[in-house]
Amino acid sequence: MIYLGISEDLFDAGVTLVDGERIVFASNEERYTRRKNEGGFPHQSLQALLEYTQVDLADIDYVCVCGHMTPPLPVRVFPFLHTLLFKAHRNREETLFKKFVDLVMFHTPVARTSEQSFSRRLTRRLLPAVMRRALPRGLRRAPLQFAEHHRAHAAGAWFCSGFEEALCLTADGMGDGLSMTVSHAVTGKPIERLWSASAGSSFGLFFEALAQAFGFTPCRDEGKITGLAATGKAENVREPSPFTLVNGVLTYTGPVGRKGVAWIRDHLVARYGRADVSAWGQDLLEKYTIEVARDWLRRTGLRHLVVAGGVFANVKLNQHLHELEEVDRLFVYPNMGDGGLSLGAICETRGFYFPKPIQHVFLGEAYTDEQIAATLNKAGLSFEYLPDPERTAAQLLAKDLIVGRFRGAMEWGPRALGNRSILVRAVDPKITGRLNTMLSRSDFMPFAPALPAEDAELYCHGVEAARHTAEFMTVCFRCTERMQTEHAPVVHVDGTARAQLVEKENNPTFHRILMELKTLVGSGVVLNTSFNIHEEPIIRTPEHAVNAFLAAGLDALIIGSYLVKQPRSGQA
Ligand SMILES: [Fe+2]
Repeated sequence: MIYLGISEDLFDAGVTLVDGERIVFASNEERYTRRKNEGGFPHQSLQALLEYTQVDLADIDYVCVCGHMTPPLPVRVFPFLHTLLFKAHRNREETLFKKFVDLVMFHTPVARTSEQSFSRRLTRRLLPAVMRRALPRGLRRAPLQFAEHHRAHAAGAWFCSGFEEALCLTADGMGDGLSMTVSHAVTGKPIERLWSASAGSSFGLFFEALAQAFGFTPCRDEGKITGLAATGKAENVREPSPFTLVNGVLTYTGPVGRKGVAWIRDHLVARYGRADVSAWGQDLLEKYTIEVARDWLRRTGLRHLVVAGGVFANVKLNQHLHELEEVDRLFVYPNMGDGGLSLGAICETRGFYFPKPIQHVFLGEAYTDEQIAATLNKAGLSFEYLPDPERTAAQLLAKDLIVGRFRGAMEWGPRALGNRSILVRAVDPKITGRLNTMLSRSDFMPFAPALPAEDAELYCHGVEAARHTAEFMTVCFRCTERMQTEHAPVVHVDGTARAQLVEKENNPTFHRILMELKTLVGSGVVLNTSFNIHEEPIIRTPEHAVNAFLAAGLDALIIGSYLVKQPRSGQA
């Protein structure tokens, strides 16, 4: 059986192709449109999937789509509305349209309808016809199935965790009327929902409001709040919590929409400053999410926890979850945002009830050396063939050069895990400032290390509960003394690091670079940051790699089996 999964949302759309239970291809729309967290129907990534995999449309047995009410039906019927919404959301200025959206989202029940409401039943009836219109002609007759938003979050994450039995926690801005859910998953059975919180009590929306009030871009820059939080003190903000959790009901009582943004900006930030307000917001998120998780872990007696949804891009929250005494194992879905729902929709609707630990997320396009050489020739760059690119990469890193690496298939999800990465040894304290300038990056955003998984305990505390999930760079660890003294550039001000543990079996070429480097300099720890500039989506093609390499002025580029030296410096 071949399944096509589609995530269509206001933000972060994408596609996945699964053959049996094997993920053949997965990619998000942002990599094609070059707009971070691109939403709407994923036309370009679907086209790329079809071209790259050469799957025959007639062979696709099911098309599985995420969301009943999210995105709202009018947006699915009239795609231009999505463009307007996307722009309005990203635009920090007040417009009439923005005020209208605010009114609909926060002051009418449209986004918060119950499962059995009239509007949801009506939408379910109309959805198949609307969706078929957006599909390529050859797919319009394929059976079409729809997954509820948070069920898809939970199902995709549980399937990839490999846990036989687990508690699944999902949290995001909102999806199909909900913002947080708790479910029980056990092998061979459908996931059973235990608890939920409405879209009106959303930590995702609260963080979006914080981002907007700080002058960041909402639905893109929430991670910056977590970065800033480590530099502030929550206790300095003497304000009552706008969230309550009473008798299992999570409620948000603060102002919402534009009024919420104005309250944070004019009342909180003006009085306490961004860093302390960030720490306060992070504290609230951790307090209530952990309270919900602990409560249900205790009630069910489960000790394996699976999390998904955009809120779990928050690596500090994830650190506290894997450190809980109630948790033996934590798994954070590698593509935790709505882009990951394309696989989740397949898992939920087709009943993938026998989880297998996902080994890697190198699920996008790869390019041949011939294709890469053609790009380099076209760019007029001189390059040399490398008989052993991994060894050369390690030698360049040992010389403290900044190396762009473009090799193998593109990563799925928000993290570059070695194949579309910028790498440099994490020793020189000045390297972070240099990289921030080269990549036009915020200086309070910490850089993350990658290290051989077998060396994890030398550099990180409390690894065991998050060993598998840390392969995808989704959790923080407290750093050892050795990490803090030898590799300070990748340790955040609070003494933690978002470490990527690189397993030989699952990420062999990157692992080899780290081991070769360790042989040369005594440590296999490198700084690994996304290969992109100006906070654009991570690069996808050889052309993107060449452009970013030249624009950022990296010292060297290992691209496929070739080495390109920076024409301007001649250092490599
Ligand atoms: Fe979501």
